[in-house]
Amino acid sequence: MNLAYCMDCMTAMKQMPDKYFDLAVVDPPYGLSKSSSNGRGKLKNRTFNRGNISRWDTPPSAEYFVELFRVSKNQIIWGGNYFSLPPCRCFLVWDKLQPWENFSRCEYAWTSFNKPSKLFAFDNRTGGKIHPTQKPVELYKWIYQHYATPPRKNLRHSPRQRVEPYRRIRRRA
Ligand SMILES: C[S@@+](CC[C@H](N)C(=O)[O-])C[C@H]1O[C@@H](n2cnc3c(N)ncnc32)[C@H](O)[C@@H]1O
Repeated sequence: MNLAYCMDCMTAMKQMPDKYFDLAVVDPPYGLSKSSSNGRGKLKNRTFNRGNISRWDTPPSAEYFVELFRVSKNQIIWGGNYFSLPPCRCFLVWDKLQPWENFSRCEYAWTSFNKPSKLFAFDNRTGGKIHPTQKPVELYKWIYQHYATPPRKNLRHSPRQRVEPYRRIRRRA
């Protein structure tokens, strides 16, 4: 069963019991809008710069992480390099297989697992992007194959599906 909630994740998590989810896979805002060129120069047509990212790119509060660790037994946190998180053994790297020096070649996820780190290589340049930090569905399929075992409950905070608003939490039971 899949449940999608279109709401602020803080409001949602506050209603959830301790350790309710076996796994939380989240992709919170990284807080990069201040350092981005945000529409200037040669990069003005990048997906990252086409929308007004300052509208949503507010990094999560300390309270967000308290709630996230409270409601879930394990966590996978994309953008983990931007947040203060404990050292981790089992970090995940998405190799984007893109050749340009000026763009990020990979993305990092912090995880709570005590397993070997892993690399997932996938070229995301095919298909239209509708969100600047959109993750490919293939990446999430890979994550669930390796780190979630149905019928456990999983909390997902991204990637959004094409027709859904971003602000939602998906629960699998
Ligand atoms: C780094 S982006 C992740 C995007 C995601 N990978 C996707 O494909 O849609 C962070 C997302 O979190 C959303 N967001 C920010 N604050 C939120 C909140 N309090 N509750 C739920 N979503 C929030 C933003 O609107 C943004 O879409």
